[in-house]
Formats: sequence, structure tokens, C-alpha cells
Amino acid sequence: MTTSNGRARHVAIIMDGNGRWAKQRGLPRVIGHRKGVEAVRELVRSLANLDIECLTLYAFSSENWKRPEDEIDDLMTLMRRFIRSDLPEFVANDVRLKIIGDWRSLAPDIVDMLEDALAQTAKGSRILAVALNYGSQQEIARAAAAAATKGPVTADSIAAHLDTADLPPLDLLIRTSGEVRLSNFLLWQAAYAEMLFVETRWPDFTPRDLITALDNFAKRERRFGGR
Ligand code: FPP
Repeated sequence: MTTSNGRARHVAIIMDGNGRWAKQRGLPRVIGHRKGVEAVRELVRSLANLDIECLTLYAFSSENWKRPEDEIDDLMTLMRRFIRSDLPEFVANDVRLKIIGDWRSLAPDIVDMLEDALAQTAKGSRILAVALNYGSQQEIARAAAAAATKGPVTADSIAAHLDTADLPPLDLLIRTSGEVRLSNFLLWQAAYAEMLFVETRWPDFTPRDLITALDNFAKRERRFGGR
């Protein structure tokens, strides 16, 4: 029997339900996203008290470009504000930012801000990985193409070229707001991850909910294909 030893090193979250949170309250979607950013902020603050090495958040998918232009603008504006306002806190709290996905094709000012944020947080020890313009199938295709330039394409050589190659193996994948699907997020990395689908809308998800999720993870028996 292989167990998790109780401890999750790497947790990833599909932050779903901002729109429904707002709709339930008769508010515009942007307010839901704004509240969603506040939930992110509280979670990142709580990292200092949690025994996990890496938190990966799905902030903007390669499919999110299909949303109306004004919603995309709102999300990008929130991103800019979040980096500007919270970067000093990341540095103070020993957080190392990592970005996965095709983020270099975002707006040039966002790319500049992210590059600056990566440089400023490079020495941090707790990793906050943010998936931006991220699609897992695209990531795997990029990794396979890169692996092919160097030699035989194998599972190991693809894994070594994924955006997450330098992160700990994914232990726990959480999705909020009731949908039970992966939506092109960390498909490769989730091969042996535990999954947890919760009903809570993302803006209502608190650090306490993450602790509950980690307690749930600690009780699971992991076999990694063995018995
Ligand atoms: C899902 O809600 C959420 C997103 C599309 C993006 C998540 C973004 C944030 C939490 C804010 C930006 C993040 C950072 C790190 C600055 P939805 O709109 O799909 O909700 P719905 O399914 O209820 O409509």
C-alpha cells in the first residue's frame, strides 16, 4: 500500500464560480472576479502557515479568450492591479512567483510586470504558480516538440519539458463550484493526483477550506498504480 504520508507538497486549484457567485447576488460578473482576487490574496497570505511547497492557480485559460471582450479586459485589469498591489507582500512573505502557460503572448505591459515580479521573487521558497493563457494540451504539445529536438520522445522527456518541470509532483487538484471536469488544466500532471471537487463558489473559498481539503487528502490512500 502506498499512502500520501499525509502531506501534500503541491496543490492546484481550478478557481471556478466567480460568475455564479455574482449572479446569485444580482451583481455584475466583474464583482465576482474582484471577490475572486480577494480569495486568492487570502490564500496566498495563508501559505506561510501551511506545510505545502507549491500552490498552482488556474487564473486564465487559453480558452478564456472566447469570453466577451469586456470580461477579458476586466480580468486583465484585475491581474495588473493584483501584481502591483501584492508584489511587495509576496517578497516579504518569501513567496516565489512562477508563471505557467503561454504568458509571453499576453499584453506587453503585463509581460513586463510579470518579468519584474519573477525577478523580484526569485529567492522565495514557497511557490505560487499562476497559470496564465494556459492550456494543458498546448503545454504537452510544446513539451513533446521540445523533447523531439533533443532525442527520443518518452514520458520522461516530455515531463522534463513541461512548464511545471521544476515544480514538485502534483498531489491534490481542487475544483470549486461544483463542476466535475479538468477543463484543460494540468492533464499530464494530474495522472496520479488526488482530486477534490467542492461546491463552494471560488469567492467564498477561504484558507480554512484549503486546510479542510488538506485534511481530506491526508486520509487518502495512494497506490500510484501499485497495490
Ligand atoms: C471562474 O469563474 C474564474 C475565472 C475565469 C478566472 C479566475 C480568476 C480570478 C480568481 C481572478 C484573477 C486572478 C488573479 C490571480 C489575479 P467563472 O467566471 O468561470 O464563473 P462561472 O462559471 O460561475 O461563470
